[in-house]
Amino acid sequence: MIRGGKPLEGEIAVGGAKNSALPSLAACLLTSERVALGRIPPVRDIATMQKLLAHIGARVTVADGSVTVEAAKIKRPEAPYDLVKTMRASSLVLGPLVARCGRARVSLPGGCAIGARPINLHLAGLERLGAQVSQDRGYIEAVAPNGLEGAPFTFDRISVTGTEDVMMAAVVARGETIIENAAREPEVVDVAALLNKMGASIEGAGTSTIRIEGVEKLHGAEHSIIPDRIEAGTFLVAGAITHGDVTVTRCAPDHLRALVEKLTQAGAHVTEPSPDSLRIRARKLKSVDVKTEEHPGFATDLQAQFMALMTQSEGISIITETIFENRFMHALELARMGANIRLDGRQAIVAGATRLSGAQVIASDLRASASLVLAALAAKGETVIDRVYHIDRGYEKIEAKLKGVGARIRRVK
Ligand code: EPZ
Repeated sequence: MIRGGKPLEGEIAVGGAKNSALPSLAACLLTSERVALGRIPPVRDIATMQKLLAHIGARVTVADGSVTVEAAKIKRPEAPYDLVKTMRASSLVLGPLVARCGRARVSLPGGCAIGARPINLHLAGLERLGAQVSQDRGYIEAVAPNGLEGAPFTFDRISVTGTEDVMMAAVVARGETIIENAAREPEVVDVAALLNKMGASIEGAGTSTIRIEGVEKLHGAEHSIIPDRIEAGTFLVAGAITHGDVTVTRCAPDHLRALVEKLTQAGAHVTEPSPDSLRIRARKLKSVDVKTEEHPGFATDLQAQFMALMTQSEGISIITETIFENRFMHALELARMGANIRLDGRQAIVAGATRLSGAQVIASDLRASASLVLAALAAKGETVIDRVYHIDRGYEKIEAKLKGVGARIRRVK
């Protein structure tokens, strides 16, 4: 429940990146030794991944934001439907399990609120490394009884978790693997850094070509996860949409360049008071166009939040979503609050600035719910967001963090 119309002021600290923590936890399955991961955000998706690792047979210990995984024995190299259906990123255990045990069984994810999201690219990569892949009763089975063999592989299209999955399988394959058209997201770089600490030999993560020289085995390591750039970006937009003055701390400004560029073009004043913080101040905003792209382009995970901002900017903004085919569910809910948005295939045309008023709305997915929170912060009156559990999948205590900078927000049963 949010009562809007108040400029936010103060500092908000971001946590570790959910989308780096997920593959990093899966990477722990590659060794029988202990891996200690720091700055793991205590969000719902991470709890699901920890449950999955425990199901597989790993010992998972959580203490003070750090998580220790010890996969001494793999009991069940599988990701059951019950876990995969609540979190698609469960398929990230596929590569590590085939690499470690020579077999894996992972439920096929079903439909998703933001698009089809198949895992065919992950499978093509694993097949190139010598795995035999088959499908049976809703499950994918991959086997490589004689281990995996390094090979060149080019992704048909850029996939973030696909790149991570194939990279994790290749680190213990025999010989060299070269992944072309790899995802360049900071999360891929972070997972590669963890794997290298575990004894892998990976070069080029963060570029389109990743070279991996297979090693016989990996060992334990300690690693701290990078800051969550999407959480940081969401708070920057919160500062802008409320015409406030917000400093986002413990973030990585380099990972947020595309967003900061668009915020600046829209008239916000963004500075870097320290190497790990960004401050945003905003008054009157003007509309700008955005097109989502793979990193270092504008992140699809910030599209919904930016759309909320564009409802409060003067002029017409054309928002083009190129990564997922159905990621505009928030537009209809924003319209219920008074936004003027027309959808045309992969484009949303937002006319602003419109006066938003509090309403009852429904969150359809993680980033859509963040967009509704932002709109509510700018709206007149009270907004009630239903199905807010979506937000807990990826944001740690968002209501407490926003309250800390003056938002009138509370969680009601
Ligand atoms: C990751 O999903 C993120 N999830 C998503 O974050 C993010 O939106 C997405 O990358 C894009 O940046 C995690 O990192 C855990 P993709 P991922 O494979 O890897 C198509 C959030 O809100 N595709 O890069 O699943 C796919 O359908 C989430 O935190 C295939 O066709 O995304 C999409 O159109 C949601 N076949 C495009 O590629 C495949 O085998 C890019 O998806 C794989 C993907």
